[in-house]
Amino acid sequence: MYKFKIRGKAKKLKGITSVSGSKNAGLPIMAATLLAAGNYTINNVPNIIDIRTMAELLSILGSKVEFKNHELKIHTDSCICYEAPYDLVKRMRASIYVLGPLVARCGKARVSFPGGCALGARPINLHLEGLQKLGTNVEIEHGYINAEAKKLHGNEIIFEQRSVGATANILMASVLADGTTIIRNAACEPEINALADFLIKMGAKIEGVGTDCLTVNGGQNLHPADVSLIPDRIETGTLLLAAAITKGEITVKNCCPSDLGIVLEKLREIGFSVNVNNDSITISGKGKNPIEISTNPYPAFPTDLQAPFASLLSTIKGKSIIDENIFSDRFMYISELQRLGADIKLDKNRIVIHGGNQLTGAPLMASDIRAAAALVIAALASEGETEISRVYHLDRGYERLENKLAQLGADIKRVEDN
Ligand code: EPU
Repeated sequence: MYKFKIRGKAKKLKGITSVSGSKNAGLPIMAATLLAAGNYTINNVPNIIDIRTMAELLSILGSKVEFKNHELKIHTDSCICYEAPYDLVKRMRASIYVLGPLVARCGKARVSFPGGCALGARPINLHLEGLQKLGTNVEIEHGYINAEAKKLHGNEIIFEQRSVGATANILMASVLADGTTIIRNAACEPEINALADFLIKMGAKIEGVGTDCLTVNGGQNLHPADVSLIPDRIETGTLLLAAAITKGEITVKNCCPSDLGIVLEKLREIGFSVNVNNDSITISGKGKNPIEISTNPYPAFPTDLQAPFASLLSTIKGKSIIDENIFSDRFMYISELQRLGADIKLDKNRIVIHGGNQLTGAPLMASDIRAAAALVIAALASEGETEISRVYHLDRGYERLENKLAQLGADIKRVEDN
C-alpha cells in the first residue's frame, strides 16, 4: 500500500506534459474483443489497475492477453468461458461490460451482480432491461446474473435515462443480434463513440455515432481489428486543474480539446487563460470568479471532474455552487477537503463552496478515483504537508499521476504506507 506526501503552496506548476489513453474508452473496447475470435492490438493503453483488472477478467474468460509498453495484445479464443466471478466484479464495476458480449457470442453469461460503491447506488437495471428486449432471459441468483439467449434479435430500446455503461453493453450485444436495433436516448460520450468506431472497424454496421440515437444492423460477420485509444479527457482536465490551483502555466499535449468543451469554458469563466491547439491545451493565469456547475451527461459538465473542480473552487474567493445530477452520493471527498480548511456545505445533491480560505495540509484518505485526484489537487495549494492514503484508488484510473506532476515541479512523493 502506498500514500502520497505532498508539499504544496509555493510550487507553481510549469512545463509540458502528455496525457495517457482513455481508461473509460479502453475498458469497453477490451470487452468488445470477446465478440470475435482472433488477434487484436490496442495501443495507447494506460498502465492502470482497472485496465489490468479487465485484462485478468479476459484471461479468465479464455483470452490470452499481453500488456507491454502501453500496447495490449489480445487473442480471443474460438471457445470462451462465460463466467465473470465476484472477486473481479467487486474490484471493478466495469466488469459488467462483458455481459453483453458474452450473451451475444456464447448465448449465455454468468456475471456477478455489482454491489454498491462509493458514488452511491449504481443500479444496472438499464443493462438488464435492454438485454431482455433483445431476447435474453435474465435471472438473479446467489448474487449472480444468469443471462441466456438462444439468439438475440434486434429491437427498439428507449433508455429512460442516459447511461454510458448500458449504452455500451447493448451496443456490443446488438452487433451480433439478428436484424435492426435502435437505441434511443443513448449516451454520446466520446468513449461511446470510440467503442462504436471500434465495432465498425470489426465489421459492425452502426449509424448515428455521436448522436443520442444509434441504429445497428446486426448479425454481420465480425472480425478482429486494431485500435489506438483516444486521449483521456478526465486526466486532461485533472492536469489542467492541478496547474490552475497553483496559478502555474502548463501545456497538456496529446489530448483532444473538443472533448472538453464545457470544462474549458468553466476554467475561462473562473478567469484562467486557456489556449487550444489541435491536440494540446495551455492554461495560465489566475482564477478570481466563483462559478456554478451542474453535472449532466455529455456534452454537459462531466461528473468525473466534479470533485477536482470543487478543490479548485475552494481556493477561489466567493460562493460557488456545484449540482451533482449523475450520481446520488458523489461527495464523500468533501469531509476530507474540510480537513484542509475548505468551507463546503452539502445539501442533498448540491454543494455550496465559500472559497478563498488558505488551505493547510493534513492527513487525508481517498475514497474513489476522482476523489483521490481532487485531494491531490487540493494538496498542491495547501500550506505545509498533506499525506493522502489509499492512493490505490487513484492508481485505478491514473498512470503515475505523481510522476507527471513532479515533472511539472510539484513536490509530491509516493511512499510506503504501513
Ligand atoms: N443508472 C441506472 N441504471 C443503470 C445504469 C445506470 O439507474 O442500469 C444510473 C446510474 O446510477 C447513474 C446514471 O445512471 O446515476 C449514469 O450512470 P452511467 O451508467 O452512465 O455510469 P457508468 O457507466 O456506471 C461511466 C464511467 C464513470 C462515469 C459515468 C458517468 C466507466 C467505466 N465508468 O460509469 O466513470 O462517472 O459513466 O459519466 O466508463 C470514473 O472513471 O471514475 C467513473 C466513475
